[in-house]
Amino acid sequence: MIQPGSYVRDLLRRSPGDSVTARGWVKTRRDSKNVHFIQLNDGSSPVDLQVVLDEGVAPAEVVARISTGASLSVEGELVASPGKGQAVELKATSLRIHGDAPEDYPLQKKRHTLETLRTMGHLRARTNTMSAVFRVRNALAAAVHKFFQDRGFLYVHTPIVSASDAEGAGSMFAVSSPEFEREFGHEFFGRPAYLTVSGQLEAEIFAHAFANVYTFGPTFRAENSNTPRHLAEFYMIEPEMAFCALDENQDLAEAFLKSLVEQTLAACRPDLEYLGKWYEPELLHTLESLVESRFERITYTEAVDLLAKSGRAWEYPAGWGADLQSEHERYLTEELFRKPVIVTGYPREIKAFYMRSNDDGKTVAAMDVLVPRIGEIIGGSQREERHDVLLARIREQASRGMKEESYAWYLDLRRFGGVEHSGFGMGFERMMMYLTGMKNIRDTIPFPRTPGNAEF
Ligand code: 4AD
Ligand code: MG
Repeated sequence: MIQPGSYVRDLLRRSPGDSVTARGWVKTRRDSKNVHFIQLNDGSSPVDLQVVLDEGVAPAEVVARISTGASLSVEGELVASPGKGQAVELKATSLRIHGDAPEDYPLQKKRHTLETLRTMGHLRARTNTMSAVFRVRNALAAAVHKFFQDRGFLYVHTPIVSASDAEGAGSMFAVSSPEFEREFGHEFFGRPAYLTVSGQLEAEIFAHAFANVYTFGPTFRAENSNTPRHLAEFYMIEPEMAFCALDENQDLAEAFLKSLVEQTLAACRPDLEYLGKWYEPELLHTLESLVESRFERITYTEAVDLLAKSGRAWEYPAGWGADLQSEHERYLTEELFRKPVIVTGYPREIKAFYMRSNDDGKTVAAMDVLVPRIGEIIGGSQREERHDVLLARIREQASRGMKEESYAWYLDLRRFGGVEHSGFGMGFERMMMYLTGMKNIRDTIPFPRTPGNAEF
């Protein structure tokens, strides 16, 4: 295996004179008189290691097999590189081919579109674009943990198989075992079970024991929304904080977004520059300005007024009581304010049962964070901590199939040491779209699951 210190990323930083072994796959090769230049990469770096192979170092029949996609190990000495783009190159003293990549290797010549690459899910991670995207994804995941760990939050693993519908949206995948049911005459879990749509309700349990907690795991939604911003399986980060009202929840969301951008810029700047160059010319500029900006904070009612004043003909009407559509969100954040916007105080009728009722009787302490290019990236709220108010809300929803008995434990949290608390959920892939400039969410997750698609 490749040992620490020997990744291409590391070799590029070492000094001339070092004897090393490089391993990886051939990106391209170029031949000139008496010498071959091989660009080698192991996925660790946006910059390839240039291998210089003099005529005669390897037998001619081996040299003939060095083609794009082949896997190699090369021993040699690092020497100062006369070429641009790298400080050192590897002067080969021996070379071994582990696996050939014949003519029909699909990534051999052409630069494919992202759409075409989606049809080659088993190969696309080897392209420059996708390897940049997945290095950013790795750095972003580490940044999430760093942010919360630095603040003393406890990481909690909430269940993937869940018995409760956290969002009350009725868009859950059922989990069952027909074979088990046939044999034993009852459901595997003894009750209907689903793939979770959110870890929030379980995170609330832990917030009442550890004050500040977060989840970071897969979530599932069976909505038939075949859009560039929806997945059926996606990752969500959900912090939940006791002793926290909506203002502090907004502060945390703003600090979180800024920190993620800052950390990823520090960890992956060359990757982001590459992605910016090919896919989103303003990328670096927008990321850097986000870190400096102060997020705009407006109420839903103000948002509806601003949409009415815009003079636009909306595809969906934006009257008070209707949910904001993507076109509205993007107008507010991209055109009107040109920076992230936090919208609070949505109508209670369009939001989940657990959100805290405001004194006006019409709105709840909800917050959505909207960012340019994406729209909603975070959804959150202060939770209803008043037992009687929550109970009444759950009973109101009985007609929509909500069962009071199923939420006895959730109500208990309000009976035993209940406290004002808040939290939010950030879609990890939405954040990836924002960071990488990818326009389709399917290009930010290794193996996308959408209606009609589940390869592998
Ligand atoms: O707004 P949502 O539905 O909020 C919740 O699930 C709350 N329980 C969160 C909380 O307060 N703890 O989802 C949160 C975020 C959205 O803002 C969006 O970024 C992302 O999750 N999201 C999706 N991402 C990709 N594909 C989908 N189908 C998504 N649905 C939501
Ligand atoms: Mg939402």
